Amino acid sequence: MNYLLGIDIGTSATKSVLFDEFGKAICSASYEYPMYQPNTGWAEQDANDWWKAVCHTCKKILSDSGIDNKQISAVGLSGQMHGLVMLDEKDNLLGKSIIWCDQRTEQQAVFLEDKIGRDKLISITANPAITGFTASKILWVKQNNPKLYEKAKKIMLPKDYIVYMLTGEFSTEVSDASGMQLMDIKKRQFSKELLDKLEIDISLLGYMHESSDAAGRISKKAAELTGLDEGTIVAAGGGDQACGAVGNGIVKEGIVSSTIGTSGVVFAHTDNLHIDKYGRIHTLCHAVPGCYHVMGVTQAAGLSLKWFRDSFCSEQIKQAEKEGVDPYLIMDKMAEKIQIGAQGLIFLPYLMGERSPHLDPFCSGVFFGITPIHEKAHFIRAILEGVVYSLKDSISILRNDMKVDISQVRVSGGGAKSSLWKSMQADIFESDVAMTDNAEGPALGAAILAGVAKGLYKSVPAACEHVITTKNVHKYDMNKANQYNKYYEIYKSLYPVLKNEYRKLRKLL
Ligand code: XUL
Repeated sequence: MNYLLGIDIGTSATKSVLFDEFGKAICSASYEYPMYQPNTGWAEQDANDWWKAVCHTCKKILSDSGIDNKQISAVGLSGQMHGLVMLDEKDNLLGKSIIWCDQRTEQQAVFLEDKIGRDKLISITANPAITGFTASKILWVKQNNPKLYEKAKKIMLPKDYIVYMLTGEFSTEVSDASGMQLMDIKKRQFSKELLDKLEIDISLLGYMHESSDAAGRISKKAAELTGLDEGTIVAAGGGDQACGAVGNGIVKEGIVSSTIGTSGVVFAHTDNLHIDKYGRIHTLCHAVPGCYHVMGVTQAAGLSLKWFRDSFCSEQIKQAEKEGVDPYLIMDKMAEKIQIGAQGLIFLPYLMGERSPHLDPFCSGVFFGITPIHEKAHFIRAILEGVVYSLKDSISILRNDMKVDISQVRVSGGGAKSSLWKSMQADIFESDVAMTDNAEGPALGAAILAGVAKGLYKSVPAACEHVITTKNVHKYDMNKANQYNKYYEIYKSLYPVLKNEYRKLRKLL
């Protein structure tokens, strides 16, 4: 039997999963690490933590599964996107990494559009300047810490740093690199024109692969630190959204995924380039060679619920410990008892600013409609609903404005473990939802890319055909959809009213 290892460098943890060649998860291990928020809107992580997590989880999987490292045919990486890792000439990390949800780069996004021109930027990169994307982060370091920038000899995305540590190869690949906003998306290469205008030396950036190419092989040193076999093939891999999509079989038109992890993402495969001229939806390269994808991103999806759990649910956490269950399960049960609309409580999930559809780093979270009848359970319900309303904003743009075919929605991520959140997605999207049999989206996607790199599968779509099956179609209920719609209309009307006030509020901080 051939085995494939998928490693996902997430925001709250790294999760590594060993699969057999039929996509069955054999063994998994995860390792958590912190996110640092030194200022409002900032978000950083230590790339050393990611590497420690990879070493730890690989060793644990090898010891728990009892599988010989020589039986692992190839390794694939998936990773949180848009982060900035900088190395000096001796390959030392230059400080912490500014990660995807950091919103400090508003001025650099404005600078980027002024320098290149908005239309030109969209025609090259497929997107308007986005604060969370890596180009703005590079410009932020250049403008705010030029001495540090001068020392940088390599600029990498999070999972590419891990590929480098595993193989010694300095490379990247199209699905993640197109989220740097430095690529000519049609040529699937870094744009010389853009780099020249921004005065970013191309030698700082790694060699560009398609996601299912082999990027290198496990080095002797990495073999010692991870327990993996020296010489094992490592695929170039993909951004977590593209890998999650591959792991959910979103590799042809018509099937769309809705993933609730730390962020929330609505994702569709497209054979050709589709661009939202207002920039509300991102267009990036897919991990399927030659193809693209469009996605709407809710910055704080699971993050909103985690924030509420950690700040206000110590009782539920204690109860969960006693009962040996996940605190989210208890919170879910509380929310299930509350009716649709949380008795007039509406939540805007803009804790980390928002991307789709507002592209606004200044907006923040809101509970609208609080009265004395509202208890903790109402707030939990309002968070679950608000996150799905935000995802519906993206579904509506894809469906109505971009004419993307949505024949089936597949739900995934931690949010799909909640039956309430799953049924809310069906009712609010007004679409039946399905799940894949394998819940390991990004790690499975990374393993599939590894299998293609090794030559075990003919292509990414052929591999998905071979390993991905769906279950659990949840039918939507038109009566509930109509009830949700009344609250969704109010939800939609709140952001435009608050837009200017958010700016005034931020100035006071
Ligand atoms: C996608 C995005 C997030 C991160 C973290 O654009 O920013 O999904 O990749 O998961």
